[in-house]
Amino acid sequence: MEAVKETINSALEKLNITGGASQGTPAKEPSEGDFNGLKATYEKAGQGQVFSFYEKLSTAEKAALFEQLSGFDPEYINEITERALHPAKTDSTEADKLEPLPENATSSVLDSSTENLDKWYNSGLELIAENKVAVVLMAGGQGTRLGSSAPKGCFDIGLPSKKSLFQLQGERIRKAELLAAKKHGKESVTIPWYVMTSGPTRGPTADFFEKNAWFGLKKENVVIFEQGVLPCISNEGKILLESKSKVAVAPDGNGGLYQALIQSGVVTDMGKRGIQHIHAYCVDNCLVKVADPVFIGFSASKNVDIATKVVRKRNAKESVGLILQKNGKPDVVEYSEISSEDAEAKDSKDSSLLKFRAANIVNHYYSYEFLESIPEWAKKLPHHVARKKIPFVNTETGETVKPEKPNGIKLEQFVFDCFPFLTLDKFACMEVKREDEFSPLKNARGTGEDDPDTSKQDIMTQGKKWVQAVGATVVSEQQTDGIEVSPLISYVSHFLKFCEIMQPPLYRAAY
Ligand code: UTP
Repeated sequence: MEAVKETINSALEKLNITGGASQGTPAKEPSEGDFNGLKATYEKAGQGQVFSFYEKLSTAEKAALFEQLSGFDPEYINEITERALHPAKTDSTEADKLEPLPENATSSVLDSSTENLDKWYNSGLELIAENKVAVVLMAGGQGTRLGSSAPKGCFDIGLPSKKSLFQLQGERIRKAELLAAKKHGKESVTIPWYVMTSGPTRGPTADFFEKNAWFGLKKENVVIFEQGVLPCISNEGKILLESKSKVAVAPDGNGGLYQALIQSGVVTDMGKRGIQHIHAYCVDNCLVKVADPVFIGFSASKNVDIATKVVRKRNAKESVGLILQKNGKPDVVEYSEISSEDAEAKDSKDSSLLKFRAANIVNHYYSYEFLESIPEWAKKLPHHVARKKIPFVNTETGETVKPEKPNGIKLEQFVFDCFPFLTLDKFACMEVKREDEFSPLKNARGTGEDDPDTSKQDIMTQGKKWVQAVGATVVSEQQTDGIEVSPLISYVSHFLKFCEIMQPPLYRAAY
């Protein structure tokens, strides 16, 4: 019987229709020595259950499972799980000392002088014209709350143009290139766009970019790369199987960005292109000013390793992470970690403002030198626990279970956890207007909060404001109607004088 099975397997392999691990090359069963070695490593770590069905798998499945498991170190997985579940307790006698960031490290477009904003805009645009600026997009999340099967960036938020989030962002990059080229008399300017995806989002993202002709950018300047994954763990600390031949895995969080930037060769590519300044942002923010010259100019003038954009916290109770200094280092403190006394404290200079009001929107500037230093500190980034419902195969019965309540954890790193590795003088923060720059798409339509309708509305309201600022009168049936302005017509800086005069068709449409 065994011999027959083997013959069938080998015939299938020759035809390459076994669904093997790597396409094109027939899967090869791992040697007995290799298999025993790997099995012993997992058993020693108390994770031998991952081999429960190994003997019954086809050759291709054995090869695929072996390859997947070889990519993880089970002792390391145990270690980070343990640390994530039981983080080291801080000594209660030494309470964390929280303070807002020092004034010289912060600026606000809400009250900066036009002179400063002009200066930053011009210097940022000059750096773009010198081809020293790149953009990094974090688009590896699974978007579970939104519930779309496609990557979030492909989502059509319902704009009249039906543009996806990726398209809006790609067109903003194109516009920034054109503005810089025009101002500095260059024939062409390039802002490379590095798009981080993950196992589940890579294929569909790459297809979408191709189908849309890279949104008017040059293909060679759009680099799609992939972040790492980590096994999903049961509440009992065991690595879960998604099928009999596959470990359940999830992307390692947006903090996986750092390892991915190095391992995928992105930092090397930036070096070859002479990139000095990097803007990194999240795919879900439909208002993001990609490669914003003001932010680049501001950050470069401060000579910092990291700068971050923040919006003003709405009120003491809003559930947002705060950017501040903790024990003399830049840091992010989650809303659940701050005392109500600190949350409600007022600014000593202006009692109409909260003392801690810099809300984190995960929108960052990095210097190239900082990204080069990733290998020195990336392993120090902690992992956080996200409790999730994770479908799994019961290793005793072989049944697939779709749990009704969270049955396990995903381990995630956060992109801002490296802030405390910096000294205060290497960190800066720029406050921007929420209505101009931040509207995340998190939830499914109909939720009424951070959903496709709020994203659409925020873009349309902004467009209406822009056309009104250049003299148009907007007449519409409903007060909430707005106007969609293509990013290719106006990138718009922080102040309206950069709003270009509308093209005639749109100008007429505005009346
Ligand atoms: P969120 O934490 O909001 O996750 O990501 P999400 O995947 O978009 O949505 P949910 O929580 O599953 O509903 C914030 C940003 O970080 C990126 C996301 O793509 C988004 O831009 N991200 C998140 C990654 O790039 N990789 C990850 O592993 C997780």
